[in-house]
Amino acid sequence: MKAVVMGSGGWGTALSQVLCDNGHETWLWSHNAAKAAEMAKTRENPLLKGVILPEALHITGDLSCLEGADMVVSAAPSFAVRETARKMAPYLRRETILVSVSKGIERDTNLRMSQVIEEETHHICRVVALSGPSHAEEVGIRMPTGCVSACPDRAAARFVQDAFMNDYFRIYTSYDIVGVELAAALKNVVALSCGICTGLGFQDNTKALLMTRAMAELTRLGEQLGGTRRTFGGLAGMGDLIVTCTSMHSRNNRAGILIGQGKTPQEAMKEVGAVVEGYYAAESIHQLAAREGVEMPICTCAYEVLYHDKDVRGVVTELMTRAKKDELLETAWL
Ligand SMILES: NC(=O)c1ccc[n+]([C@@H]2O[C@H](COP(=O)([O-])OP(=O)(O)OC[C@H]3O[C@@H](n4cnc5c(N)ncnc54)[C@H](O)[C@@H]3O)[C@@H](O)[C@H]2O)c1
Repeated sequence: MKAVVMGSGGWGTALSQVLCDNGHETWLWSHNAAKAAEMAKTRENPLLKGVILPEALHITGDLSCLEGADMVVSAAPSFAVRETARKMAPYLRRETILVSVSKGIERDTNLRMSQVIEEETHHICRVVALSGPSHAEEVGIRMPTGCVSACPDRAAARFVQDAFMNDYFRIYTSYDIVGVELAAALKNVVALSCGICTGLGFQDNTKALLMTRAMAELTRLGEQLGGTRRTFGGLAGMGDLIVTCTSMHSRNNRAGILIGQGKTPQEAMKEVGAVVEGYYAAESIHQLAAREGVEMPICTCAYEVLYHDKDVRGVVTELMTRAKKDELLETAWL
């Protein structure tokens, strides 16, 4: 099988190594030809320190690598997914399987990444979302990891499962692409909020409270938008929430810590030095929740802190003193 991974960030690079390990003819495409040439020479990606890339991996900045591809993995950061899909569209065949691994909601349109790819590739190919608790840094060193391959077309989901699965990368299938993509995008806001808690000096109790109650909110919104409730308790939901909220690999978590310590969101994102997708997801959630009439107190507070300079400690008091609730009536994903 010929596989092409579009986007040579940490995740695209780690996934291309998985595909190489599985014996597929694998190409890693970078939008920056000079960087591609450098990586091809050094066999290293500075975003994936300590990983020596397999000799069999083809690394290029030339789009013609897409010719004859059986599977194309879209691994650009979410802001560049539309532009990248537009570039690959002329090379796709009807039978090519597209895999979306970016986690985000498009700004302005509030579309999921697979919807953006479908629009730009004129709905000719089946699009599968691959998501779960998976830091590139750990997949790069072949730590046991699990993800979900989601598509309403079960054969396409299984194709991606077969392509990626091996003894350190375990893949489950799911029909619920809507839930999987929403869970992946929305949880970044919770990771930012968890980081804020750490920055404020709060400890494990507070973060567990935040993660659990935030998941109830995300499930409410996800269900309203057509996702399946159980997805939010699975790998792409609770699994990814745990990994993102508890790890310093997460740039959302790191940015949140800086905000909790008193930096502005702009200062924090500059210091983290990479795209903090949760910042943008906070705005999308705010718009979607308002449109759908879904109550999301934690995400609303995160939005107010991130976009309207609302005082963080005041927000915590506000959340802790909300009207009394019943947990079972309130927790959508149980
Ligand atoms: N890093 C992870 O552990 C991880 C895990 C799962 C999913 N993801 C998702 O995968 C996506 C990519 O994340 P990442 O960490 O690999 O990369 P990233 O967000 O760190 O982006 C850096 C890379 O993006 C690429 N890039 C920048 N501008 C581009 C453009 N205009 N067109 C095409 N490519 C461009 C460059 O190759 C650059 O190296 C994100 O949506 C992220 O949420 C990341």
